[in-house]
Amino acid sequence: MIPESLLNEIADALVEPGYWISDQAMPTDIGRGLLRAFETLQADEFKTAGIGRQTDFQLEEKIRADKIHWISANSPETTQFLQWMDALKTGLNRRLFMGLFDYESHFAHYPVGAFYKKHLDAFRAKGGQPSSNRVLSTVYYLNESWLPDNGGELLIYNEADSEVIEKVSPVFGRLVIFLSEKFPHEVLPANRERKSIAGWFRVNEGRLS
Ligand code: OGA
Ligand code: MN
Repeated sequence: MIPESLLNEIADALVEPGYWISDQAMPTDIGRGLLRAFETLQADEFKTAGIGRQTDFQLEEKIRADKIHWISANSPETTQFLQWMDALKTGLNRRLFMGLFDYESHFAHYPVGAFYKKHLDAFRAKGGQPSSNRVLSTVYYLNESWLPDNGGELLIYNEADSEVIEKVSPVFGRLVIFLSEKFPHEVLPANRERKSIAGWFRVNEGRLS
């Protein structure tokens, strides 16, 4: 389902520099289907997103202002997407022995002006209990005719968190994959509503301890 040459390219990029960005990775049909599925959802099917185990919603709203809907294989469109991610998981496990175990993902709707402040998707376990088992992050964008003026870029910082190394415009069909523990990142506000799918490959809990 994913060409071997593409899997090789992604695996190489994850070894160094640790992230990969492409506009041609996923078949356009899958992207169109996902946009259809996204647009079928009613406003009340999107919930205020949380951050980790944080339960203070006022604090959360200062950090992220997107609304999310968790994806499941309940439609042909989302099933196709999840199958593609499953093929990616298998391909990367064969090449990098990452031990990727499952994949969770959600549609994210950023209303005009919404942002997501700088964060890491996972924290490296420092002895004791691991704080997260997310190891590989994906972001896929669904915004047709997105212009540079619309803003809403994903900023990716270096591991030392000292400089921005990528400024990614959320254009339709663009896929970003990065090591969850390595790269702080943030979403800048946009002057248009912004649609994305964030997802994470996780390792089995037991493997971390
Ligand atoms: C996230 C995230 C980035 C984006 O949901 O954790 O960083 O560009 N999203 O939507
Ligand atoms: Mn993130």
